[in-house]
Amino acid sequence: MTSEAPVKHAVRVQVNERQYEEEVEGRRLLVHFLRETLGLTGTHVGCVVGECGACSVLLDGSVVKSCLVLAVQADGRAVVTIEGLERNGSLHPLQESFVSRYGLQCGYCTPGMILTALDLLARNPRPTEDDIRHGLAGNLCMCTGYMQIVEAVREAATVLAGATPDLA
Ligand code: FES
Ligand code: FES
Repeated sequence: MTSEAPVKHAVRVQVNERQYEEEVEGRRLLVHFLRETLGLTGTHVGCVVGECGACSVLLDGSVVKSCLVLAVQADGRAVVTIEGLERNGSLHPLQESFVSRYGLQCGYCTPGMILTALDLLARNPRPTEDDIRHGLAGNLCMCTGYMQIVEAVREAATVLAGATPDLA
């Protein structure tokens, strides 16, 4: 019995402002495409059923769980992963605040948390604590207890709004 080679599809996608063109199987998940095909391992794999948020990335500016998206669905679209946030050697304010506010321990959830927070702040630049907790509800952290994560997002919101953060 012969097994047929899986059919592949051309995917042209912009990731972190760089254009890629790859042949992928129709069933390949975006998270596996990013990590294994493109080598962007900052996007983490957790539950692979849409529950934990570790795989969160931006797709055309909106956060998605990349374990719930097929790579072929990203064809012609733009993806941002955690690797795309640094600018000229400087971390994004959200990356800075997660460090300064101790918003991470093992760091497994952190890329997804930051991309989800980025989406939240784009839609709501001055979120309340409730807004932040609601916005991050789909992202699970096993380590921090969430308080530091919420503080990190509040601090980044303040920095991005041009104000001096209250570091008390
Ligand atoms: S790995 Fe995608 S939500 Fe958990
Ligand atoms: S820092 Fe470890 S899972 Fe969030």
